[in-house]
Amino acid sequence: MLRWYRENGRELPWRQTRDPYAILVSEFMLQQTQVATVIPYYREWLRRFPDFRALAAAPEMDVLHAWQGLGYYSRARNLHATARIIAADFNGICPQTVTELIGLPGIGRYTANAILTFAFDRPVAIVEANIGRLVARLFNISAPLDSTEGRNAVWSHTSALVPTRAPGAFNSALMDLGATVCIARLPKCGVCPVKKSCRASNPLTLPVKRPRPKRKRLGERHAFILESERILLQQCDRRWRGMWMLPTISSPESKTPLHVSKFPFTHHEVTLRVFATRLGQIETRAQRWFPLRQLNSIPIPAPHRRAIDALLLRPKN
Ligand code: ADE
Repeated sequence: MLRWYRENGRELPWRQTRDPYAILVSEFMLQQTQVATVIPYYREWLRRFPDFRALAAAPEMDVLHAWQGLGYYSRARNLHATARIIAADFNGICPQTVTELIGLPGIGRYTANAILTFAFDRPVAIVEANIGRLVARLFNISAPLDSTEGRNAVWSHTSALVPTRAPGAFNSALMDLGATVCIARLPKCGVCPVKKSCRASNPLTLPVKRPRPKRKRLGERHAFILESERILLQQCDRRWRGMWMLPTISSPESKTPLHVSKFPFTHHEVTLRVFATRLGQIETRAQRWFPLRQLNSIPIPAPHRRAIDALLLRPKN
């Protein structure tokens, strides 16, 4: 595995550091977002918030703004909260035990172990999607990976694999083998370095997942209100708490929306409809006028930003 990794491992920016802060940031970003999307955000984040103290001192608005486009904003809030705890209670220094790490917002078994193994080279197991698939095939685990039984089987098999020599590199190797060779659709068994140890009866059928509930459809209506180069926006609660979106409307005056788009959100497929609206038509909530030239510097959820850009016929950013 280690030889394979030296020759075939991916060069990723968070592998050029042992700084636990940088590694923690990368793991938060990678929790639900692909590597290629994360890389530019990761670089910019470290420039903007170079360590736990800098992040702890930043206002939430700046943190959400830097996260904008990555989605699942609770990750940004948790990362911010974790930085504040590490700055206040740990002197700005990342704790090095599983128990201390797992208590922090947004940090579960995977993220705690990823920090320990990548930053401190500890022999602990990590299982994310790539390793889960690889290990399910290696050991022919047929329990669904999103069941307790399947999860436990994969974690215990993976734990038994981690060597005491170079565990961090070994874990990176497992991850890369899963990401580049033991891929979901057409695994490249011909070039797999551990082919001889693989017990998969049919790798294409593994891992097994429980059937997903169908996505529910949801319609959302919002107002587009411009006045002398300013736009009215409303502060979000719940889903995008703290960010700014087009104001909500319950019953539009016009039947024809100016803009329609769809976006996925957890178990929903949301249809966003934006209507030309007069000021008197909307319920006043936490709303504010923003000059159009300021729009790039405030946190706006991606679907709303795309709608605004389309309506203003501006190129992206
Ligand atoms: N997915 C989760 N953590 C990752 C990492 N450190 N490198 C690549 N992909 C990942």
